[in-house]
Amino acid sequence: MSESSHVAYDTIIPNNVGLASDRKVLKALEKWHPEFLSWWKSMGPDGFQESPVYLRTAISVEREGWAQFGYVKMPEYRWGILLAPQVENRTIGFGEYQGEPVWHEVPGEYRALLRRLIVIQGDTEPASVEQQRFLGKTAPSLYDMRNAFQVNVEEARHLWAMVYLLQKYFGRDGREEAQELLRRRSGDPDAPRLLGAFNEETPDWLSFFMFTFFTDRDGKMQLESLAQSGFDPLSRTTRFMLTEEAHHMYVGQSGIARVLQNTCQIMAKNQIDDPFRIDEIRELGAIDLPLIQRKVNFHFSVSLDLFGSEISTNAANFFDAGLKGRYKELDIDDDHRLVDALYPVLKVIDGRIQSIDSPALPALNTRLRDDYVRECARGIERWNLVMAKAGIEFKLKLPHIAFNRAIGEFSSVEASPEGHLMQQKEWQQQRDHYLPTTDDADFLQSLMQPLHQPGQYASWIAPPARSIDNQPDDFEYVRIPG
Ligand SMILES: [Fe+2]
Ligand SMILES: [Fe+2]
Repeated sequence: MSESSHVAYDTIIPNNVGLASDRKVLKALEKWHPEFLSWWKSMGPDGFQESPVYLRTAISVEREGWAQFGYVKMPEYRWGILLAPQVENRTIGFGEYQGEPVWHEVPGEYRALLRRLIVIQGDTEPASVEQQRFLGKTAPSLYDMRNAFQVNVEEARHLWAMVYLLQKYFGRDGREEAQELLRRRSGDPDAPRLLGAFNEETPDWLSFFMFTFFTDRDGKMQLESLAQSGFDPLSRTTRFMLTEEAHHMYVGQSGIARVLQNTCQIMAKNQIDDPFRIDEIRELGAIDLPLIQRKVNFHFSVSLDLFGSEISTNAANFFDAGLKGRYKELDIDDDHRLVDALYPVLKVIDGRIQSIDSPALPALNTRLRDDYVRECARGIERWNLVMAKAGIEFKLKLPHIAFNRAIGEFSSVEASPEGHLMQQKEWQQQRDHYLPTTDDADFLQSLMQPLHQPGQYASWIAPPARSIDNQPDDFEYVRIPG
């Protein structure tokens, strides 16, 4: 590679890591970048790759630089490597090394643990792009299409963020892991993504909104705990990723709210106040509220599995080693060591679900999951305001954490959404009340008709309360030729 191509490379990748003078990373990226692009073209959004999309691009971490809007063709998106500004004299906030200066290089004894953490986080980013690749074809509006593409390019940028750490700090095995991140495929039985929820399909837009609300929020919680890391480059990278993650959750929160609002409006207009008059509601092109509850049940329970087992030595080791903290670690009023601390954990004992005070360190997954559940519950309350305002008696609820679990304490039992333990057979009989049915999926598919006229929205979703970047309501967020 000639010197001049290095310079050119530095300008196409917005960065604040001195890429131009980092020969080692440049060399690794020059090999990885073409592989990334071919992954993006084959596994990224299907179609629309040549369409200009009104996207925001982060070109620096300054206030004016992290949300620059303009039309971009997705393959030409400027994937950046951006770290939040270094905090002077930052010290490790928790665990065995509490109070010591943070690490700017990988601590040798934790190399494998740290690499594992980065790979697991990194794997989720391209996975969600793969899961969402067919959504463009059935977008309910150009506004929504643009939002999905925005999420996609940012998840791909998050992949860049993790790949940078691997290539910069982990040498040869880091470079190999970076390639593996492009080789695994969501849902591929031979080379699946590492975590279960990232191998599920995102076959329709209701699933997409649920995914961004529930599954991206798991991502947020993980990023928040990695932002506490004593390995400073990881902390700085994840802190910047969180600024983008907020928009992903907004897409989910507001997307579902718009679906609810639309259903309530259509019910009111047609004098239907019973949310269980399903056939009539569906006939009118609206998504019935009980179906939305079943989707909540599914996406919430699958996302809970992402937190891993309630009791985990790995989680304890990550914390002890100063690699992964708790949610809002520095705001917590305790010793940040947790050596003798206890934490209540729900377990199945003698055929009953009971809360047991357990050693706090190995229960850190449970704690993070509890923080997550609280946030989800607040989102649900906001959704319920939509029905309350419309005078429709229906409340969405989060299912009990024991419901429909594949990992941890409750994976070996069956429980109702209310948290009653059940026999397998009995649960199977009720399954179609709890979780989306094939009939639900078919109905949703039947609604997924694309709408490409600026300012128009499909029958099943209300227009957004506000536009992107203060654009007019009929703004052409994606320019589709012909
Ligand atoms: Fe992400
Ligand atoms: Fe995200």
